[in-house]
Amino acid sequence: MCGIVGYIGKRQAAPLLVECLSKLEYRGYDSAGVAIINEKGINIEKCKGRLKNLEEKLNQSPIEGTMGIGHTRWATHGEPSDVNSHPHYNKDMTISVVHNGIIENYLELREWLQTLGYEFKSETDTEVVPHLIDYFYEGDIVKAVMKALDKIEGSYALGVVCSHEPDKMVAVRKDSPLIVGLGEGENFIASDIPAILAYTRDVYLLNDKEIVVLTRDKVEIMTKEGLPVQKEVFHVTWDAEAAEKGGYEHFMIKEIHEQPKAIRDTLTRRIVADSDEIVLDDIKLTAEDLKNIDKIYIVACGTAYHAGLVGKYVIEKLARIPVEVDIASEFRYRDPIINERTLMMVISQSGETADTLAALREAKNRGARVIAITNVVGSSVAREADDILYTWAGPEIAVASTKAYVTQLIAIYIVALYLARLNGKMTVEEYRVIRDELLKLPEKAEEVLNRKEEIQKFAAKNYGHKDIFYLGRGLDFAVALEGALKIKEISYIHAEAYAAGELKHGPIALIDKGVPVIALATQEDLFEKMVSNIKEVVTRGAKVLGVAFDGHEDIEKVVDQTVYIPKTLPLLAPVLSVIPLQLLSYYTAVERGCDVDKPRNLAKSVTVE
Ligand code: F6R
Repeated sequence: MCGIVGYIGKRQAAPLLVECLSKLEYRGYDSAGVAIINEKGINIEKCKGRLKNLEEKLNQSPIEGTMGIGHTRWATHGEPSDVNSHPHYNKDMTISVVHNGIIENYLELREWLQTLGYEFKSETDTEVVPHLIDYFYEGDIVKAVMKALDKIEGSYALGVVCSHEPDKMVAVRKDSPLIVGLGEGENFIASDIPAILAYTRDVYLLNDKEIVVLTRDKVEIMTKEGLPVQKEVFHVTWDAEAAEKGGYEHFMIKEIHEQPKAIRDTLTRRIVADSDEIVLDDIKLTAEDLKNIDKIYIVACGTAYHAGLVGKYVIEKLARIPVEVDIASEFRYRDPIINERTLMMVISQSGETADTLAALREAKNRGARVIAITNVVGSSVAREADDILYTWAGPEIAVASTKAYVTQLIAIYIVALYLARLNGKMTVEEYRVIRDELLKLPEKAEEVLNRKEEIQKFAAKNYGHKDIFYLGRGLDFAVALEGALKIKEISYIHAEAYAAGELKHGPIALIDKGVPVIALATQEDLFEKMVSNIKEVVTRGAKVLGVAFDGHEDIEKVVDQTVYIPKTLPLLAPVLSVIPLQLLSYYTAVERGCDVDKPRNLAKSVTVE
């Protein structure tokens, strides 16, 4: 889970690569490095820590050259250190490599290469790659890369340069993302589109095991066997601005504020006022197909998994099909009961999460039909699923997911409505009620954002606590889990979410004088029960922030402070109730001086198991 970039053209490569890497730091920021080719050969600068350390080094000792590769690292094999930073290189520094992924058989390859006299400087899995290419190199870097790939097991996006062939760059991917950017007299490779958006909007989306050879004027794509591949150019239409902070202090707060638009964009065209039709271009599942489905699995990781938990309530309620929700890393190793009567829904913002992708493949191998909800067009998940529903959140840069989550919820509502209509479990009248409320959500989300000062005040008073608890019942419990994850990951406060009714079976022992508790009470049929649960923690000294619909002022009798959200159908409440929890995490992290967009130990796209 690192970021790689490569450039071949007429501009100075080093500053350009640093600029591109700055858009990929969300993929990891343990170290950074570049390898630049010039008449002296390959010149490498790399160091531990943030990209700015590398930038400073390059400012002090600039490296001339119009071709190079760059890397930003999230450490997997080997601690973050200068020597473990990429690019890695062969013994005489004629071949250099940047890599995202994991070479699974690296120990075996390393031992074998050592018997041949190769010496290793780092503890990384990647370092076997330049040595392996060196071993096969007989004057043709493309052939040497191909031979090396035959020996490598695992996942990779690789950028390779060779000083004997200074006008050529080679790149390849398997199970790690990689795109090619097409310019005039210059070409690029990158792990993700924002990295190169300042330079070009025309890209090729690579498939697994495709090899790309880039020169200044040409990009050739071929299969592992060397057969040419014709590809369509994908033109990026979204704004480069969208990948920038646009005046906000952090990407996270910008993305929180983009939620009304993201919700609207995700609904657009699919659910339309005054129309009873749900338009889903990339979902081909028919009523006939659905008759054969007896179970749905929702599989995802982290925040996307929490969206899946909402999905269980919603799909079971509307479409009356049993739903199981699983964490992707658990799902694939527990021999789940899947067959051609199973519909699997995978949810992934990036569309590249290794565990989610593996679960998708496992389900497909066993005959299941797979619907993907993803934010990244052309991502691996999107390409391998049978049906796709894109969330139009736009690029999400902050490591903590916010706008992707709410759009995942919207996508889930759309699929649930679609299934319910398809299997006849919902009348047109029932559909219209939900449709009309869904269409009001962007405006209501805006209204929640307008009330953010309340949350800011609570954060200012409570940011110093060591523990925080989140309680809810039904859908509120699913949102509570997401709230707790959000505060953990960016504020480093220990947080737990509990189903409020479960509290008295153990966790209530943790409640002590002054402990903050966030109590969600949006589920009207459970409101009274929730109030009783709140009383239980108040009696034990907790300081409670309630989250309730406008008009439910009764809650004030039991809580210390309330955040109200505009009234909607309880089924749709998660889209609104999560926003105060995101804001609470954000303001708490800011108060604590945390690095909001790049929390410690985390990376945006988890392409390792
Ligand atoms: C938390 C967060 C992660 C991701 C998880 C799955 O804020 O962002 O928990 O939700 O790593 O990522 P995707 O959705 O890209 O598969």
